[in-house]
Amino acid sequence: MNKIAILDFGSQYAHLIATRIRRLGVYSEIVSSDTPAESLKDYAGIIFSGGPNEVYADDSPKADPKIFDLGKPILGICYGHQLITHLLGGKVEPGTKTGAEFGKAQIEIKKPLGILKGFTQGEKTQVWMSHGDRVTRLPDGFEILASSEDDQFSAVGNLARNIYGIQFHLEVLHTVKGNEILSNFLNLTGVTRDWDLASFIAQAEENIRSQVKDKNVFMLVSGGVDSTVAYALLVRALGQERVYGFFVDTGFMRLGERDEVERALKEEGINSLHIYDGANEFFDALRGVIEPEKKREIIGRKFLEIQKKASEKLGLNPKDWMLGQGTIYPDTIESGGTRHADKIKTHHNRVPEIEELIKQGMVIEPLKDLYKDEVREVGEKLGLPKELVWRHPFPGPGLAVRILCATQPDEPQNKAEIEQEIQTFLLGRGYNLKATILPIKSVGVQGDCRTYRHPLALTGTATWQELGEIAPAITNRFHDINRVIYKVDQSNGPNQIASATITSGDLTRQRVSTLQKADELARNWLKEIGQEKYVWQMPTVLIPVSINQDDKEAIVLRPIVSEEAMTANFAELPFPKVQELAEQILQDQNISAVFYDVTNKPPATIEWE
Ligand code: XMP
Repeated sequence: MNKIAILDFGSQYAHLIATRIRRLGVYSEIVSSDTPAESLKDYAGIIFSGGPNEVYADDSPKADPKIFDLGKPILGICYGHQLITHLLGGKVEPGTKTGAEFGKAQIEIKKPLGILKGFTQGEKTQVWMSHGDRVTRLPDGFEILASSEDDQFSAVGNLARNIYGIQFHLEVLHTVKGNEILSNFLNLTGVTRDWDLASFIAQAEENIRSQVKDKNVFMLVSGGVDSTVAYALLVRALGQERVYGFFVDTGFMRLGERDEVERALKEEGINSLHIYDGANEFFDALRGVIEPEKKREIIGRKFLEIQKKASEKLGLNPKDWMLGQGTIYPDTIESGGTRHADKIKTHHNRVPEIEELIKQGMVIEPLKDLYKDEVREVGEKLGLPKELVWRHPFPGPGLAVRILCATQPDEPQNKAEIEQEIQTFLLGRGYNLKATILPIKSVGVQGDCRTYRHPLALTGTATWQELGEIAPAITNRFHDINRVIYKVDQSNGPNQIASATITSGDLTRQRVSTLQKADELARNWLKEIGQEKYVWQMPTVLIPVSINQDDKEAIVLRPIVSEEAMTANFAELPFPKVQELAEQILQDQNISAVFYDVTNKPPATIEWE
């Protein structure tokens, strides 16, 4: 009973509500919006998340109306607020009729009761709104608790039944007192605030033992933080003789990565890590493969095939063994783990074969309910070195997702026309920048959907701040573009992209080696300039585009700041230093240009693929 359920109505940001609740000391879970009331009995309170739909549409996700009869405190946020209103007999109308609210707004507290306890009447506080539709009539028994200038129903509640609705998003930082409101809601549910990571570890150890029973675990260690921590946790729960750590060197690791992980584990006294050199097999399987999702699928499957082969060779009877994975919470969500989140990409831990094994109860994922920062803390508590635990996240498929592949140019049909329009748009805003649409596509995310569109390269002089304004203006306006990158090397003069041609290439050892070198330079550089903590992650990406010459490639630097990787902003690093790095990278004869990604997530993803 000491947990909160978040019914997910399709918001990519439902997870933010979940982390906020956990930081307040209460365990929370995201569950599908069509979960029957019966299955929600074990939760102390229920939150209805936001979502992109219109509650009055026939096909929009609804909730089981019996939830209201459970007698539990309920809080609806944005879409959730409108849905509660709709289901309980109030009215919601389209924004076209009533006017939308986007961005920061002030609400005035009318009644400091329930979720607004502790506020004062008449007090104004800043919140963040993002809605078209709105509530226009309350259901019986509800009253107004707070109003904005444009919407009298910003916070409402049925105090007798402890059912509340807020039109704003309390989960984002722009809502200044979001935590206070959430905390009030938690108080209404009567939960005790005893969830922390030390108790998580103790509970996780017990869960592992009861799930694994007398079997052993064959644990896939990828070299990333998540799987290494999961491995250490399994060893702690079961002892190392029962956990066979299996590290597949795919050939797509960062330079020196494999040795680093092995050393860190040995220092912890964990010696059961077995290393398998799979590079040849991966390169063979990926020969000629260009399409990013296909690459992911092949890598996921190959991992599994190698694992199967290895376990057969070892004579591990599937009846006696389970498969361990370092999956964490956001991995399951971005793969469409909840029903309404569109499939953005297939996580390598969620390819169909693994899904099948999960169904059969053959997979153990001890960190699958944790967020990244929580995993890091668990790692530290388990005694893993800080250096390893706080390493920037690195995707399981490794550099393979950071090497874009192509056989021919991929350009929008009316490329020249769009470039001209962008050029005019930039000039109109007073920017003397040249825009070139690159002949490749990369994955992005818009709304709750995956996109596959072109990057736009800018050359010329602009500050980070200006680029930060230009990028969303372009991606919002020009639908063929989901990323904006800025050329940071000045070797050919700042305004020069005379040609951007495709260099045909799939995943080869030579390309991996080129990227490994650039990545190593970039990582060392980030440490040297003292920005490793500020930057949450900094993929270095190899794109098969040659600038102003033939048969070379280009590097894109992608430093971002983020909390949970679900949203991210590009990091503004000292420009002269960035140029120094670019010059170092350009020493490699295979590289023709160095770009800096100035797109936030959304609309771009953190990784390029
Ligand atoms: P995107 O590119 O979707 O990435 O913005 C979000 C975060 O997830 C990481 N990522 C992965 N991690 N296996 C992983 O273990 C994967 O297949 C994978 N794909 C993306 C990415 O590095 C970023 O931190």
